[in-house]
Amino acid sequence: MLEGRDGKATSKAMEILLALGTIYEADRLLPVTSAQISGVSFDNLGNAGLEFLSEMANNGGKARVLTTLNPAGMDVENWQELGIDAAFAVNQQRVIDVYAKMGVIPTCSCTPYLFGNLPHYGEHIAWAESSAVCYANSVLGARTNREGGPSALAAALTGKTPNYGLHLPENRRPTLTVRVQTALTGTRDFGALGVSIGRMIESRQTKAIPYIQGILEASVDELKSFCASLATYGGLALFHIQGITPESTIFPAPEDILTLSRDDIDSAIQSLNEPLLADELDFVSLGCPHLSLNEIARVAEQLKGKRVKKTFWVTTARPTKQIADQMGYTTIIENAGAILAADTCCVVAPIKGRFKGIVTDSAKACYYAASKNNFKVRFLTFNEVIEEALK
Ligand code: F3S
Repeated sequence: MLEGRDGKATSKAMEILLALGTIYEADRLLPVTSAQISGVSFDNLGNAGLEFLSEMANNGGKARVLTTLNPAGMDVENWQELGIDAAFAVNQQRVIDVYAKMGVIPTCSCTPYLFGNLPHYGEHIAWAESSAVCYANSVLGARTNREGGPSALAAALTGKTPNYGLHLPENRRPTLTVRVQTALTGTRDFGALGVSIGRMIESRQTKAIPYIQGILEASVDELKSFCASLATYGGLALFHIQGITPESTIFPAPEDILTLSRDDIDSAIQSLNEPLLADELDFVSLGCPHLSLNEIARVAEQLKGKRVKKTFWVTTARPTKQIADQMGYTTIIENAGAILAADTCCVVAPIKGRFKGIVTDSAKACYYAASKNNFKVRFLTFNEVIEEALK
């Protein structure tokens, strides 16, 4: 491949993988069965990124394994309603078309595991998108490093990844026990747990894989919120929860122990909530990570027969939205004046300067709303976010 047997793009992709493998002292390349590519929003990619992708496509790059795509900067079918400008839309569509030309499925979602890109336990994959990486490693027990856009694309075009990091069983051992001494409920609590653990680990300035005890149950929706938060605030790509995640049964709890109380969770919530004037809360968003069908049903139920008073984006994957359309949830949400958008989210859409403050249940969205878009943030529970949209 490196010598150009399969064309220039594959050769370039192999170059990227060999450079990575050399840096991390990988002993060989592993076959992967799926890839998830980040670096899709034109807001982040810009012209240089689009040029690189076009070159790869024009040089014959073709995905060899199931490959899905992260969210883009707009709903590709309904970008006008999100207030996206036409010039941006043209460039964003070019990015998606270039990926599609390479055989990448333009799912434009960060929750590929909810609709068809679902690796099983022990499967080697190459995923970018930190929340999905954390979910795949921890909840599914698949094996991936935290790839960047170019290395995930390189894995897609070659079907390989260097054998290092979290592909090696010995690097998946937990290093720190976290005892959670309080009950957690809902996406905000689990997001706050990610903030607490992430910050604790960051403050120790060593890499750690937490082994979490004391959580008796956690839904898929809560786990995806936790994954997004832990990856954002602690840079983590793997955790184990006793009794819930698959590898928790094969490792003992480490002797280094931290405890977390309700006060820790509450102070994580407090730390994200800025003092805000009522007129500074002009944007409401649910869907970071992309909402599941179950969550969309909850939004529809709470909005039925009502009218929202603020801009309210509910973001999800297009396949999930299609089922929501069939179930009538989309009509209910739209009749209430909210927008059920596919393909994008409140972080990767180009909305800097459009709003003053965001209300969300997502700790990850809080982080990027403040750092990327300069929004003030209010971090509420899922139901409270919907209530806030109605005020
Ligand atoms: Fe997904 Fe966008 Fe959040 S990509 S995890 S919804 S920042």
